[in-house]
Amino acid sequence: MMIRIAGLDDFSAVEALLGRSYPAMMATAYEERVLARALPFMTKAKVELLTSGTFYIVEDEGHVVGCGGWTSGAPGSGESVEGLAHLRHFAVDPARARHGIGRSIFTQCARTASAEGAVRFQAFSGLNAEPFYARMGLVRLKVVSIPMGSDVAFPSVLMEGPVGGRP
Ligand SMILES: CC(C)(COP(=O)(O)OP(=O)(O)OC[C@H]1O[C@@H](n2cnc3c(N)ncnc32)[C@H](O)[C@@H]1OP(=O)(O)O)[C@@H](O)C(=O)NCCC(=O)NCCS
Repeated sequence: MMIRIAGLDDFSAVEALLGRSYPAMMATAYEERVLARALPFMTKAKVELLTSGTFYIVEDEGHVVGCGGWTSGAPGSGESVEGLAHLRHFAVDPARARHGIGRSIFTQCARTASAEGAVRFQAFSGLNAEPFYARMGLVRLKVVSIPMGSDVAFPSVLMEGPVGGRP
């Protein structure tokens, strides 16, 4: 397995991974009708992330099995606060869950974000992913409802913690 910076050429593979990961892993925490409305928005690969230089892919024998990264701008608003970085679009192939892929992406993010001066991470976590981010040292700040399109609100958890992970 190897981790590398993603690029625009990875657009289709990342979108396919999001399409495999989110529906399967989120089904444990959300009602089917909520997922049916929200997933078409959430499983779109983002050019902004693929060209950021801080979005990573984990490959195993040429297959993309994980992705995730960070940005200094907040998702949506793009607002930057000194020392704060935002974890973005983490996804692992459901067939490869709980094998440390998410942790390896977090570690890579921590290394590169701290090298650029970040000391805190924030993440909008799905309800399903809260135990993962908690294990990475983030704590729940509040539950938020993220608008998806004109008529869907997706319950998520805003989490924050030290870039260095759990002490
Ligand atoms: C969240 C996600 C990226 C985690 O990836 P992963 O590779 O399965 O996570 P790891 O194996 O690195 O887990 C590291 C630790 O986090 C914790 N953890 C991870 N998933 C967990 C779960 N479902 N329940 C409880 N703890 C969990 C565990 O402590 C785990 O260590 P352990 O397996 O030794 O006990 C993955 O579950 C996923 O892709 N989810 C769907 C997409 C998603 O919700 N993304 C988040 C953005 S909203």
